[in-house]
Amino acid sequence: MNGLLASLGTSIGRKMVVAVTGLMLLLFVLAHMAGNLQVFAGPEALNSYAAKLQSLGPLLWAARLGLLAVFGVHVALTLKLASENKEARPTAYAHQTSVQATSASRTMVMSGLLVVAFVLYHLAHFTFGVVQPGNHELVETLADGTTRHDVFSMVVLGFQNPLVAISYVVAMALLCWHVSHGVQSVFQTLGLQSARSRDAVRKASLGIAALIFVGNASMPLACLLHLVDIPSGN
Ligand code: HEM
Repeated sequence: MNGLLASLGTSIGRKMVVAVTGLMLLLFVLAHMAGNLQVFAGPEALNSYAAKLQSLGPLLWAARLGLLAVFGVHVALTLKLASENKEARPTAYAHQTSVQATSASRTMVMSGLLVVAFVLYHLAHFTFGVVQPGNHELVETLADGTTRHDVFSMVVLGFQNPLVAISYVVAMALLCWHVSHGVQSVFQTLGLQSARSRDAVRKASLGIAALIFVGNASMPLACLLHLVDIPSGN
């Protein structure tokens, strides 16, 4: 703990913490996507998955708080590093590469802030039901008479609104831009990138970003096009 706090006192330490928290967020995005892709398997699969998560109770809350802390640290330290870079920037650049590096990190801050805006909208949509509240209140009645949150219908009906579906696809493109550059920075910051591996790292980061884009954008698009739909009779 003391080591972690000490590392926050230096610029390189802050970069390391941004890299590690970025990796943790990436793992969350991949795991969340794998869970959500069960929308393609139908209401039973997605609703029982969501119910299982809810049944974790205090564990789920601990994970949520941990995720929130990781997210907060990642965003706050990135903003701090960006403002330090701005203060330290000389009036004239000695090399073209430093201009490119600064412009890439500025775009990272911009795309990151847009991802934050997406997450806030997404929480208001699916977690708190502020957006499309009617869909959030839907429940499924099981054979034994008990009820559970109908996450499948909430997601499918939500994405059948073209504006909502398209805004998710645009947000996923931004997220993937951020991830593809972020993964390369993580390798650099953690000293895992050599001149020889640069190309492989670039390809791997593009591959991860493409996977996230295809997986996440497929859900709103499939619902919008009624390839995934509410079963008839519901
Ligand atoms: C099309 C893609 C996505 C779908 C279909 C989706 C679906 C959902 C659903 C249904 C919930 C609410 C779960 C519940 O309350 O039962 C949720 C929560 C959440 N989503 Fe997503 N999501 C998507 C993409 C993302 C992305 C890309 C991120 C992050 C960048 C993200 C971050 C979150 C977070 C932080 C929560 C709150 C988790 C919790 O409260 O337990 N989601 N998502």
